[in-house]
Amino acid sequence: MSMSIEECATPRPPKPTPPTPENVFDQLSMKDRVVCITGASDGIGWAVAEAMAEAGANLALWYNTNDAAKSKGAQLASKHGITVKAYQVEVSDPSRVQQAVGEVAKDFGRLDVFVANAGMAISKPILEQTVDEYRKQMSVNVDGVFFCAKYAGEVFKQQGRGNLIITSSMSAHIVNVPVDQPVYNATKAAVTHLGKSLAREWRDFARVNIVSPGFFQTKMGASPLCENEGHRMAVLGRQGHVREIKGLYLYLASDASSFQTGSDVLIDGGYTLP
Ligand SMILES: NC(=O)c1ccc[n+]([C@@H]2O[C@H](COP(=O)([O-])OP(=O)(O)OC[C@H]3O[C@@H](n4cnc5c(N)ncnc54)[C@H](OP(=O)(O)O)[C@@H]3O)[C@@H](O)[C@H]2O)c1
Repeated sequence: MSMSIEECATPRPPKPTPPTPENVFDQLSMKDRVVCITGASDGIGWAVAEAMAEAGANLALWYNTNDAAKSKGAQLASKHGITVKAYQVEVSDPSRVQQAVGEVAKDFGRLDVFVANAGMAISKPILEQTVDEYRKQMSVNVDGVFFCAKYAGEVFKQQGRGNLIITSSMSAHIVNVPVDQPVYNATKAAVTHLGKSLAREWRDFARVNIVSPGFFQTKMGASPLCENEGHRMAVLGRQGHVREIKGLYLYLASDASSFQTGSDVLIDGGYTLP
């Protein structure tokens, strides 16, 4: 950042333009790329897995308690002629995350995109939230993303290229209603800013972008207490279907977004507009 006109006059030759394909469908191809996704057995993570597979990527699917990634991943592999491997990883365990990133890099020989998507919520007002519940949400939503970023980032730096996508939330932007969930909101705000900060730190070898979903129909979608308000607040009058988020992750993972880093993309049916 220059603080004066004189400083601005210092010549600054541009970095080379990357070899992004001309044709937009070629830009979106993920053929031969390796994508690792956390929380991949279901919900948004599974939709991301499908999107990447449909675009030709090989997949490392991380799950914790739901091992559906194994059978669903095998089906994706045979349907699309790609390689898919499933890994059991508790993202709040730094040594397991470090080890599993190493396994992925060894098994596939490269790591092009890491989607830090796993998350959880214990939605309560802070005066009813226990310290253990606070720590649990921090450990998965913040520590987990930090560990994934740190160890995937080491591989990205070594390779000289990489792409991190963080699943945050519209709750990083707004204080959602009607259920108080200050800790969840804060965890998502933390990883949004972590991602933006990494976009700068990793400017020479990796891109980092954040996806901030509104309510989507998954296990973490609008609870019965929030459903009516969710429909009222969203300009589109409903929750999203996970197939409606596939294109955004594919865009951010692919060469179609080669000039995009540090962005935080809201995809919320207009929930945060009013
Ligand atoms: N749905 C929405 O309305 C919405 C809105 C905004 C943001 N989000 C965010 O989107 C992301 C995906 O959520 P979703 O809606 O797809 O719900 P979901 O189907 O419940 O997915 C959450 C995933 O996180 C994984 N996970 C939770 N704790 C973990 C841990 N300790 N270690 C490893 N993995 C863990 C779960 O894996 P296992 O099942 O294998 O344990 C699960 O696959 C979350 O980060 C969530 O905060 C969702």
